[in-house]
Order: sequence, then structure tokens, then C-alpha cells
Amino acid sequence: MIRKAVIPAAGFGTRFLPQAKAMPKEMLPIVDTPTIQLVVEEAVSSGIKDILIITGKGKRAVEEHFDGNFELETELEAKGKKDLLREMRRISSLADIHFIRQKEMNGLGDAISYAEQHVGNEPFAVLLGDTVIDAPGKPITRQLMDIYDHYDKTVIGLEEVPKEKVSRYGIVGGDKIRDGLVLIRELIEKPPVAKAPSNLAIAGRYILTPKIFEKIRKIKKDKRGEIQLTNAIQLLLEEEAAYGLRFDGKRYDIGNKLDFLKTNVEYGLRHKEFGVDFQNYLTDLVKSFKTKK
Ligand code: G1P
Repeated sequence: MIRKAVIPAAGFGTRFLPQAKAMPKEMLPIVDTPTIQLVVEEAVSSGIKDILIITGKGKRAVEEHFDGNFELETELEAKGKKDLLREMRRISSLADIHFIRQKEMNGLGDAISYAEQHVGNEPFAVLLGDTVIDAPGKPITRQLMDIYDHYDKTVIGLEEVPKEKVSRYGIVGGDKIRDGLVLIRELIEKPPVAKAPSNLAIAGRYILTPKIFEKIRKIKKDKRGEIQLTNAIQLLLEEEAAYGLRFDGKRYDIGNKLDFLKTNVEYGLRHKEFGVDFQNYLTDLVKSFKTKK
């Protein structure tokens, strides 16, 4: 059974500079909600109540977001803003959230190694703090947990990406077990397209077994100076099987500028209060752009 989730939120955010210089990219809003809140909510709605967020330099805002804020709550109460007050209190009591700081930014594998004491000898879920996945049915983490419950082994969320994008992701190769499920044979972090075993990309959601920690310890920094989780899972394959699930859902990588814009447009269009107004605005805007051409 999976009881704990680890959310790495420690990276520099170099793909989102200058914004990420002083403000964590995980705090980038999707309309009005920080990305990491939606990630925590995915873990909670998958049935996980114990969450460890790996932070680092410049990431204090993440801790503050999940903390109570007495002054703000008093102010909202005095002004009779009951809905907002309820929402602020809901956020600070979403889950049992713990924090640990990664001392140096040495990559995702290194960040995960900070979770060893907290998760102990249990399997755990990993949700990247800058990636939101919108699922029509069950949350993605829950979909992966269901596979874990069946096989008791590592499970990785996969997404098909166009060939020209494989060099941006960890890519897996494997044997199809059934529609959407593969037994993983190899994993390569950000391969050139010619060396990619498939176009199935690691999509920021994992169920890992505690064996991963001893494997991470054996991994050396790669040419980017990072200890890659992907390489540790590859090493794990010598001892344990790992499965990949091509999940049902849409991934939004908020740490990427164009994806950030697209995400906000899509969530804006779906917004209960002003979705229709926003749609009208965009339609007019697109028309005026076309006439200017
Ligand atoms: C990380 C992982 C990579 C995965 C990606 C998903 O890379 O190392 O395997 O495909 O997340 O977003 P990053 O984007 O942090 O460089």
C-alpha cells in the first residue's frame, strides 16, 4: 500500500528565468492557484495524506503557502469573506506536509535521496512539483497506485511524445503487456532521437520501491552534473521489474514558458466564473490579429 508521496520542488528553474530567479517555479499560478497546490491535491485525491516536499534555496514561499496565516485569516474573518477564509484553511490542512531542503541542486535522483529517512522501508509515490496532469477519471497517481497494488513493483507514468521532443525527456523501451502497460527493459535520460528506444516519455509521476535509495547512491553525476533518477531506475532493473503506464490524462509542464501560457489559457477557458468572457476576449483578439496581418 502506498501511504506517502514525495514532491521534488528544488530545481533552479533555469527554463523559466528570470521569473524563477527569486520565486519558485512551483509557485507559478494556474489562473489563481500555485502549481504545487494542484500537485498536492492530486496526491490527496489519490488517497495519500503524508507528503514530503523537497525544497531548496529560494523555495520558502512553498512552505508558507501550506502554512496557516493567522493575520490573513483574521482579516478575512473581520471582512466577512467566509468562502476565502474556508479556502485558506482548507489549503493549510490539505495533508500532513513535511519539508526537507536539498543542500545542493544535484538533480532529481539526489533530491529523491533526501526522502530516504522519511519514507523508510515503504514504497512511495513521486510527483514532480512543476507538472500538473489533468485526468478525466482517476488521478494519475491513483492510476499508478492501482498498477503497483497488482505487481508490487516500480511503476512509471508515461506519455507518448513526438519524435522531435524525445531528447527533452527520460525515454523508456519495453515490452507491451497490454494496451497502455509495458514491462520496462531500458530507460535513457534525454537521448538523442537516434538513440531513443521509443517515444514513450517519463512524465513526472512514479511509484518507487525503497530499493531505489541504494541504487541512487551508486549513480554518478552525468555530463549535466546531475544524479539522474532515470539512471537509478535503470540500475534497479537488474534486481526488480518496473512497469510503465501510458496514462489517461493531459500533462502540463509549467516549468516551460510555452506550456505555462497554454495551461493558463486552457484553465482560463474552463473557469466557472469568467470562462465565457475569456473565450469571447480570445476570439476577438485572434480576429483582430488576423485583420492586422
Ligand atoms: C525530469 C526527469 C525526466 C522526465 C522529466 C519529466 O527531467 O529526469 O526523465 O522525463 O522530468 O518532466 P527534467 O524535466 O527535470 O529535466
